[in-house]
Amino acid sequence: MPKAWTDADLEAGRKAMVGGGVGAAIAILVDHARGASLWDSNGKEYIDCTSQAWSLNVGHCHPRVVEAVTEQVHKFTHIRTSFDTAPKLLLAKKLSELGPGRLKKVGFCLTGSDANEGAVKLALRNRTSDQIVTLWDGYHGRTLSTINMSWPHPNNRFTAWGGPVLRIPQAYCYRCPFELSYPSCGLECARFARQTIEHAAAEAPAALMMEAMQGNGGMIDFPAEFHQAMRRLCDDLGMLLVYDEIQTGFGRVGEWFASSLYGVEPDIMVIGKGLGGGFPIFGTLSRDDLIPYSPGDHSFTFAHFPVSMAAALASIEAIEAENLLDRGRRLGAAITARLLEMRDRYELIGDVRGPGLMIGVELVKSKKTKEPARQEAHDFVQEGLKRGVIFGESKYLGLGNIVKVKPPLVITEAQVERTLDVFEEIARSLSN
Ligand SMILES: Cc1ncc(COP(=O)(O)O)c(C=O)c1O
Repeated sequence: MPKAWTDADLEAGRKAMVGGGVGAAIAILVDHARGASLWDSNGKEYIDCTSQAWSLNVGHCHPRVVEAVTEQVHKFTHIRTSFDTAPKLLLAKKLSELGPGRLKKVGFCLTGSDANEGAVKLALRNRTSDQIVTLWDGYHGRTLSTINMSWPHPNNRFTAWGGPVLRIPQAYCYRCPFELSYPSCGLECARFARQTIEHAAAEAPAALMMEAMQGNGGMIDFPAEFHQAMRRLCDDLGMLLVYDEIQTGFGRVGEWFASSLYGVEPDIMVIGKGLGGGFPIFGTLSRDDLIPYSPGDHSFTFAHFPVSMAAALASIEAIEAENLLDRGRRLGAAITARLLEMRDRYELIGDVRGPGLMIGVELVKSKKTKEPARQEAHDFVQEGLKRGVIFGESKYLGLGNIVKVKPPLVITEAQVERTLDVFEEIARSLSN
């Protein structure tokens, strides 16, 4: 890394990049970051309510993570999957202990899309059908197969390369696709899902893959009853239930895993993001009685990256030592309570959703018509940046009208106050 550079160097780098990231760039050149804050190159501080793609559950540069990684890079960095390393085996042991019920087998890779493909491979090893069921607004990644398992990507030229996927509606109760209300609907979406599968698939599909709460598709949380209905559907039809907990795991919802909130045990759980404390590590926790991978089924050059393993062990240690699950629940409840008060005061705020610090606010032009306030959501985030708070935005997917509040679990009480004051200031100004 050079010690100095010019604006022209940076501009040349910008021009050299081919694009393909998420939506419009955020005009911040990051200088450094700690806890729930990051600072730009002009020294301006921002409270980071995105946790950088909802990954820094223990915050930026958590001291335990930094120490573990520093120690690790002085020992060795890259060791390929054929070798044992203590960080890998200790992390596998720890994850196996954390895995609920029968989810005791651990697989590792470096991105969420790969991890979801790993879950699909396990499902295909254990069932004869090639088909996977996913939810309408699900998001499972951007590789050629996971892009097809996600909400329809605009201008998608890639579908021919995905496998057979059957999509079913999810319980998006704020905008029920059947125009019914929960609970008097009797869970029509679950009934329709069952019929769709029974009528569309000659043989039961291999698996249903769903997020425990849909993040990118619009911060859509489902009633526990919907989760339980999906478990029953899988049991009745002989499909495996795969929970993509990439966003919801490791404290984001105030629990190790969101499935425990709903009283459902999936057959395969996909994990990552918050696990690595800022380092790339993803994987699967699967039932110990499933047929495992065959050698080479899911092998990648850097899949067992020891530095990420050391970081993950430290991040789990931090969650335990600092009681961060409890903190996530407590701060999440306080933030949600204040946002709900704002919902009652401002026409712009249609719905407030999500457990723990997995909070989405759906903006509407009118509470009655629920017309999505897409531009307002974009403006909201820009106004936040001016005031030193980075809110998340659903930029180019779903309805594009969600503002996300998903800070690190280590956000301080004072930062929470500031974030909520800024949120209200913007809600007021955009309502006028
Ligand atoms: C629920 C979920 N699944 C999968 C992914 C894909 O992960 P990655 O971007 O690491 O491939 C994401 C990323 O946002 C996600 O939120």
